[in-house]
Amino acid sequence: MSVYILGIESSCDDTSAAVIEDTTILSNVIASQKVHAEYGGVVPELASRAHQQNIIPVIDTALKRAKINKNQLSAIAFTNGPGLLGSLLVGSSFAKAMSYSLNIPLVEVDHLQAHVLANFLDKPGEEHPHPQFPFLCLTVSGGHTLLLQVNDHFDMQRLGGTIDDAAGEAFDKAAKILGLPYPGGPVIDKYAKEGDPKRFQFAIAHVPGLDYSFSGLKTSFLYFVRDRLKENPNFIEENIHDLAASIQYAIVKSLMDKVVKALKSTQCQDLVLAGGVSANSGLRNAAADVARRYHKNLFLPTLDLTTDNAAMIAVCGYFKFLKGEFVNIDAVPYSSRVL
Ligand code: KG4
Ligand code: ZN
Repeated sequence: MSVYILGIESSCDDTSAAVIEDTTILSNVIASQKVHAEYGGVVPELASRAHQQNIIPVIDTALKRAKINKNQLSAIAFTNGPGLLGSLLVGSSFAKAMSYSLNIPLVEVDHLQAHVLANFLDKPGEEHPHPQFPFLCLTVSGGHTLLLQVNDHFDMQRLGGTIDDAAGEAFDKAAKILGLPYPGGPVIDKYAKEGDPKRFQFAIAHVPGLDYSFSGLKTSFLYFVRDRLKENPNFIEENIHDLAASIQYAIVKSLMDKVVKALKSTQCQDLVLAGGVSANSGLRNAAADVARRYHKNLFLPTLDLTTDNAAMIAVCGYFKFLKGEFVNIDAVPYSSRVL
């Protein structure tokens, strides 16, 4: 018998609801909050309010698109953290109330585990091969940068991570320095496609082991741009493509150098990317290159499943549902917890 899970995601600035049948997506509705763009970043108070406005229509649409009646649901999975507390409270409170009224199990999901498990989702009529355990997963988002050895769905071993900024933050901050809108990653990616990645060189931090650091790169980029602007006020406009390509190259190289190091020190045959930054075309190409060179299988989420979405919450909930791992309505959201 099929398992139907409703997933609810509200950890940051996307209100999302999805329905899956086992691992197959029936609907995945995302309301992205535009209100933050003019502030150059997410404003927590505005995010909570927008979640309140969006949550009912988003869930309603997800059920309708999936052609599923709420009484057919097997369980409700929701993001319990990490994220903005006010935002998490909207999704978690709704999930609790709905599971209570339908008398079905409630499953709490860790947002980062969900990004990783997005690689186990299927779309109707197009089954994807799934990675085999243990695999190496580079999880790169706006809030986190982690290298994980994934031994099982919920056994994720941290091999390394950032000691300061996340990779997504590095993209967003570089974009801000160039006067580009938030979120900056997709915009840098777009400009970089027509730029020369070797035109400007930015120093990559040498951090021991499998850890990362991006704060020095951001500062050297800031000083470089500021100095050039003193000589030529049109420096950014005249060089936007090469600037975007060069900073993207530095971030991607930094990420992939440690991936190569990790592949050499583990037995993993499969390399997996996850999180918003895994949408980056430079990173996807570099990962394909590394996989080819080191004879590994590469797994990339489709672009719509890289950034925040509720289908990944639902699939994480599905695997927990199979294990019978449920929570009560007293589950408390958490703002930070690293795997
Ligand atoms: O996973 P996500 O949607 O949210 C968090 O959990 O943080 O990731 C958002 C991050 C942002 O920093 C955004 O700039 C970045 O992912 N991002 C990208 C691209 N698309 C989204 N970074 C680089 N290139 C992209 N194409
Ligand atoms: Zn995320």
